[in-house]
Amino acid sequence: MTDHYAVIGNPIAQSKSPEIHTMFARATGQDIVYTKLEAPLDGFSDAVLRFRAAGGRGMNVTAPFKLQALAMATRTRPAAWAAGAANTLRFDGEQIEADNFDGLGLVRDLVHNHSMPIAGRRVLLLGAGGAVRGALHPLLEEGPARVLVVNRTVEKARKVVEELGHEPRVAWCGYPDVGDECFDIVIDGTSASLRGELPPIRASVFGPDAMAYEMVYGKGLTPFLKLAKTAGITRLADGVGMLIEQAAEAFNWWRGVRPDTRAVIDKLTVALV
Ligand code: ATR
Repeated sequence: MTDHYAVIGNPIAQSKSPEIHTMFARATGQDIVYTKLEAPLDGFSDAVLRFRAAGGRGMNVTAPFKLQALAMATRTRPAAWAAGAANTLRFDGEQIEADNFDGLGLVRDLVHNHSMPIAGRRVLLLGAGGAVRGALHPLLEEGPARVLVVNRTVEKARKVVEELGHEPRVAWCGYPDVGDECFDIVIDGTSASLRGELPPIRASVFGPDAMAYEMVYGKGLTPFLKLAKTAGITRLADGVGMLIEQAAEAFNWWRGVRPDTRAVIDKLTVALV
């Protein structure tokens, strides 16, 4: 019997998830149909319940519904608690289970696809919204030497870091206070590049042989990546691998088989020019 899954968001037209999961299903021989669902801004939980009532087995959740997805879960897995948001739902009888694979997807992409170990490295995380919140715990589990969270609204950076509890490796500040420190991995977790904007960092944040990672995907050389490139950084990446790795984790959770991601990454990668 064909099982139904969907990605839900608003807007949703831009989502690559149906394409990704359809490729995974084909490669693993899983009998699924995966569609896009645009829920009205005030109608998220109704749309989820309707999808489940029609036989849906699980959903990916994207902006702006990740907090509401967590709130409607009856069982929450640790990564979703830690992130304060859910990006994947699984329906099991009456239960709505929630998880969040965004951070794990980022870590897998850095470590496995870009051969960029996080252990012992200095990491600069730009932004303090949902994307950064989801990334922090999985990054810390890899054992970085230091993580600095920088945000335009300083208060949000402080809150995200303080919620971790006692964590001496992690600090926060506003952009003017970054100073001359340089980092091995600089991750743009802001939404600035969606509007063609640059978070106010200086090129001096990129250490020798640093990696510049843009969580947004498919936009080519964003202002952040351009800054890095102009500074002589050659290790540049956007978030396409993160997207596909989190999708593979969700697929595994739903179907019990982890698809190979390489071919899908190759297919969806857009040149960083
Ligand atoms: P998401 O869930 O994708 O992280 P979000 O919660 O709206 O989205 O967060 C967007 C992040 O991008 C925030 O950290 C935001 O900074 P503020 O908290 O100060 O709003 C950051 N951001 C957006 N545009 C930016 C810009 N031009 N420069 C710097 N930071 C920016």
